[in-house]
Amino acid sequence: MTARRTISKGYKAHVADLQQRWEKALEVEGFDAAVIHAGSKLESFLDDYEYPFRCNPHLLWWAPLIHHHDSVLLVRPGKQPKLYYYQPDDYWHLPPADPESWWANEFDVEPVRDTNAWRHAGLNGKTAYIGDAPDLAEVANSSELNPTRLLNRIHLERTRKTPYEIACMAEAARLGAVAHTAAEQAFREGLSEYDIHQRYCMSIQMIDAELPYGNIVALNDHSAVLHYQAHEQQAPQDIRSFLIDAGATVHGYACDITRTYAADSGEFADMISAMDSMQKKLCDAVVEGLDYRDLHLTAHVDIAGILRDFDIINTSAEDAVSSGLSAVFYPHGLGHYLGLQTHDVAGLIADADGTPIPRPEGHPFLRLTRTLEAGNVLTIEPGLYFIEPLLRKWRKNGDVGAINWDKVESLAPYGGIRIEDNVVVTDGVPLNLTRDAFAAL
Ligand code: GLY
Repeated sequence: MTARRTISKGYKAHVADLQQRWEKALEVEGFDAAVIHAGSKLESFLDDYEYPFRCNPHLLWWAPLIHHHDSVLLVRPGKQPKLYYYQPDDYWHLPPADPESWWANEFDVEPVRDTNAWRHAGLNGKTAYIGDAPDLAEVANSSELNPTRLLNRIHLERTRKTPYEIACMAEAARLGAVAHTAAEQAFREGLSEYDIHQRYCMSIQMIDAELPYGNIVALNDHSAVLHYQAHEQQAPQDIRSFLIDAGATVHGYACDITRTYAADSGEFADMISAMDSMQKKLCDAVVEGLDYRDLHLTAHVDIAGILRDFDIINTSAEDAVSSGLSAVFYPHGLGHYLGLQTHDVAGLIADADGTPIPRPEGHPFLRLTRTLEAGNVLTIEPGLYFIEPLLRKWRKNGDVGAINWDKVESLAPYGGIRIEDNVVVTDGVPLNLTRDAFAAL
């Protein structure tokens, strides 16, 4: 059976599960219905060209309406969800195709040519309007438009993925593994960042707008820029290293994978191996009930240990963490929830009130502070970089003798290392979607 058919088999149960979750959330928060708007196209200032459309993830959770601006879903307790499926008479653009039965059978679908059709639904009682379409603001008062408690409650629900969602993410991971393998090959052939990126997209037949985020394709010291966005068209003369942080999507669900390669054997290649072993150990530690903040702090100690083993720092790993030295080399968080959004929702809140779960002091960029639950999908992405502005700051304000500067100078041209997998939390052995996908190629 193809992966797509396997995915669609779980869809009916997914929608039934969402109906239950939404009914409960609406009841608890005192709403009788929810109107979920896909969003409308947005034109750039003083122009008639539009930004690439990204659908409201709340609608995508229900149905794979990736390109479907102005479609609207009506959710009511005890009723089949009603979909106003917007199919304009548009000869400038290709309108959405007719709904496919594998998903459309779960809805009362009404194809509409008018973006306002949903306004005639005849809703009684209190309705929550979810989305950012200007049309919603016209009909909703402030307590009904994206009500905070309802959204928080739904966001927390979205952190527990259904089998359908995990199947989508496993397929996204498979595509990611295919494309990463093609990109590594292109790196080994000496291609430029631009050409590697093209090879990546071509290998899975995706265009940039279908990727979950802009691919980070970094040769040499560019990999020390955490979200490096340029795609240089010329390959450097001397190619030393390659970091690629790139994903793929299936029905809106993302994978988010990073790999780092050395052109040759040597110290940098050995550091990649050390980081890879450490990253796998962190992935294996993911389990229901774990406070993700503890794993993030463990990663700091482990990375500081690698810095010490490679003679880059002169202090103990523990001292490097407490003094902030490890953060000079590893300035981001260990990872984040993953799903319909690359940085998926509710990573930092405890409840429907949105009570924040604080980050550990000195770790301002951690995106996930929750205690893990079965069904969560998250990234594990420790990094180790030679970032000039952070090193300069430490040289000015920190303990200068704690860093072996000659070593830093010899390794800085390699940029840095990040290794990132996508892991499903269970009540036992975690499911590593990324490693499984690479292993199955
Ligand atoms: N992998 C891209 C990001 O997490 O921001």
